[in-house]
Amino acid sequence: MEFRILGPLEVLDGEQSVPLKGAKPRALLGVLLLHANEVVSNARLVDELWGERPPATAENLVQGYVHALRKQLGSDTLLTQAPGYRLRVLPEALDLLEFQRLVAVARTAELEEAAALRRRALALWHGPPLADLSFEGPARHESGRLSELRLETQIERIEAELELGRHAALIGELESLVGAHTYQERLHAQLILALYRSGRQAEALQAYQSVRRVLSDELGLQPGQALRDLEAAILRQDEALVLDGRTMPTPSLPAETPEPAPAEDELRPVTVLFADIVGSTALGERLAPDDVKALVGECVTQMSQAVEEYGGIVQAYAGDGICAYFGVPHTREDDPERAARTGLRIQEVAGKYARDVTEAWSIPDFAVRVGINTGRAGVGVVGAGSPQTVALGDATNVAARIQSAAAPGTIAVGAETARRLEHRFFFEPLGEIPVKGRTGHVSVSRLVGPRSRGRSVALRPLVGREQEVAKLRRLVSELEAGRGQALLLVGEPGIGKTRLLAELRSLLPDETTWLEGHCLSYGGLPSWPFIEVLQRWLDVEIGDAEVVVRTRVRARLGPLFGGDPSRVPPGLGRLLRVELGTDAATAPEEIRRGYVAWVEALTEQRPVVLAIDDLHWAHESSRELAEDLLVLTERAPLLLVATLRRDPASEGWRFRTRVLTEFSHRAAELALEPLTHTEAAELLGKLLPGAFDDETREEIVARAEGNPLYLEELLRALVEGGGLEQRHRTWTTALKPSLILPPALENLLVARIDRLPAGPRRLAQLAAAIGREFPVAVIERVAGESSRDDLAVLLRAEIVREVRRYPELRCAFRHGLLQDAALTTLTPSSRRELYARVAAAFEELYAGSLDDHLERLAH
Ligand SMILES: Nc1ncnc2c1ncn2[C@@H]1O[C@H](COP(=O)(O)OP(=O)(O)O)[C@@H](O)[C@H]1O
Ligand SMILES: [Mg+2]
Repeated sequence: MEFRILGPLEVLDGEQSVPLKGAKPRALLGVLLLHANEVVSNARLVDELWGERPPATAENLVQGYVHALRKQLGSDTLLTQAPGYRLRVLPEALDLLEFQRLVAVARTAELEEAAALRRRALALWHGPPLADLSFEGPARHESGRLSELRLETQIERIEAELELGRHAALIGELESLVGAHTYQERLHAQLILALYRSGRQAEALQAYQSVRRVLSDELGLQPGQALRDLEAAILRQDEALVLDGRTMPTPSLPAETPEPAPAEDELRPVTVLFADIVGSTALGERLAPDDVKALVGECVTQMSQAVEEYGGIVQAYAGDGICAYFGVPHTREDDPERAARTGLRIQEVAGKYARDVTEAWSIPDFAVRVGINTGRAGVGVVGAGSPQTVALGDATNVAARIQSAAAPGTIAVGAETARRLEHRFFFEPLGEIPVKGRTGHVSVSRLVGPRSRGRSVALRPLVGREQEVAKLRRLVSELEAGRGQALLLVGEPGIGKTRLLAELRSLLPDETTWLEGHCLSYGGLPSWPFIEVLQRWLDVEIGDAEVVVRTRVRARLGPLFGGDPSRVPPGLGRLLRVELGTDAATAPEEIRRGYVAWVEALTEQRPVVLAIDDLHWAHESSRELAEDLLVLTERAPLLLVATLRRDPASEGWRFRTRVLTEFSHRAAELALEPLTHTEAAELLGKLLPGAFDDETREEIVARAEGNPLYLEELLRALVEGGGLEQRHRTWTTALKPSLILPPALENLLVARIDRLPAGPRRLAQLAAAIGREFPVAVIERVAGESSRDDLAVLLRAEIVREVRRYPELRCAFRHGLLQDAALTTLTPSSRRELYARVAAAFEELYAGSLDDHLERLAH
């Protein structure tokens, strides 16, 4: 079934138009369509159909109309849902929703595409909206509102076309629009500009005079500032009014900005999650409306809690489902993982709920469908009264579509999300689905569950790191000799910290105990990495039945404590969420003491290595426990290892400070530097056996700048993008590796920029528009003196570094990929604007020696 309301109301069943009889039933359908997928209450319907004087039988009449409509539309389209009715429509089956979608996508698209999208959106109209319906309630105003929306879109489309240099072709259309909307100053301004750009200056000035007269005669008003500025600019033949192919000026139309536009429009990767309850229809048939509402409401609440637990935000509640964003307002490196874990949690919660529902009412088909998709979206703030952060773009629409393709009780995931999560989760391909408004299909997978972090993946051979490995060997032999120590492996993401940890493990003799835990980027339980260590040692998992855990604890921990299970510290039970003793000690110090006692007992048997990966994500509770274990290295053969990034604000860094100040006599730190050029080339050869042609190899190696993860992901992006082909056993590429930002790294890189406060973030964007390396003078010329402070933040955050002070201060992005990531967060129009301002600053600063700097301008 397809519905059209951008014109007279129409319902289509395939090609066939469905005849709808009666003004009231048609109006009723109109109201439901204006609120598609929302519940519209009985009272509201009565109000819309009859206004202030409804007949006594109004409610019954509404029921009758619904009954008749349902016969034509089908019962799963028109649902009864307290306190009224809900019309279920796919976004692509209602022209209004499709219109809104296209307009939203256009906001973040390139000029040419934006104009095309808006044209497509406008083509959906076939007359005045809801023209043939009469309403008595608030819906009366909807028709006017929709018409305004249409005009707004028309103006935006014309704006884009003007910028594309199509002024001559627009004049006719603008003249008739101006005739129909006499007081729309923006349209007048567009006409005047189009005339001027077509070399018709006198007519442009006449057009200005005629609108001035109309406004003053009919409304007693002066033209607005924008129009007056435009006239002045025409009179002085301002160059900014003319488009010349080379330097695209910033939008030269001095019109007011369109009001609902996001305040600070930026692009960033966003992961969108839709979750929807299926089977609520069956509930509606079996239960009283109030009960259904309460039941569905509770389930939706629990789904929202899952979203919040993993740091997402619920953007909308749509009937019996939610739409949530991860990465709004700020991108995090693990947004896709957070969304995936939320999906799993939602299914867990919904599964329990479904069992209860089945038990209580014998309703078997209560379930939730989840759809997840990642993509770049325009993120901004809309609305003046109660501003809301929203993500606009295709990603949301595709996520909704993916959700509708998921089987009840499952999670379906788009290709972009799956690609970022392959290492951590299992997926099953579901094939491809079409998405309306997109050419090409979207491939979808089912998210099955997380991979365990076992040792299952065979390690690829280590490249380079000879000195580090030599140091590890020394530490191992000292441990064998009974000496306790602490080891810190420090370095940027992807540099090889975890890999080196694995190397350490492989160097250990058999008679050593290896304990390992990981801090989670999304938080998790307090002391989590240490809980994980204990669970792995006991061979239990979260979700195991309490009796299993308790039995293991007694069987494995008992012997460590003199064969007496009652002497197992109750704090350990607390960490495992099981009751051990009679009165469980719960104070945090008690728990830590119990933990240290356990590790100490292990060291009495044989030397122990306890490794915590990613300590930069640690909670305070984990840091405290790590510090207590540090003390243990004084008296026991314990090698305490932590990997961490350089993040001075983190708990992990506090731990490092403690280690280096108070335990320096027992501490070793390995700071991992980028691989050398030769090592990186060697790694490339190992990742993809076979020779590379020189140019390709050099480009990939240069782009990765010694970071093994970047190298791997660049290669993967090339392979998956079909960019590599083998000729005579030599790999070669038609793509430019130097232009690729691997999708799997996008979140990681953008998150580093996005974490910054607004000032430094904007500065990073500006610097990125200048180049990998940039003179600070240009920054100051564009952004003002105060930008020095913001630059200091970028230096401290290790986003940029100082290159030289003389003859002028120059800084550079620490990594080329970081610069590119900063650029990707700019919308095309703000990027153009920045380029223009940068070019102007160069001209002013280096007017005499411009040639030297021309290279920089060649963007
Ligand atoms: N020296 C190395 N030789 C070969 N592969 C490496 C080396 N260092 C890192 N890698 C690989 O690069 C990727 C990123 O390394 P990882 O240890 O996960 O980085 P980190 O833990 O510092 O973020 C992994 O796939 C890892 O196996
Ligand atoms: Mg790691």
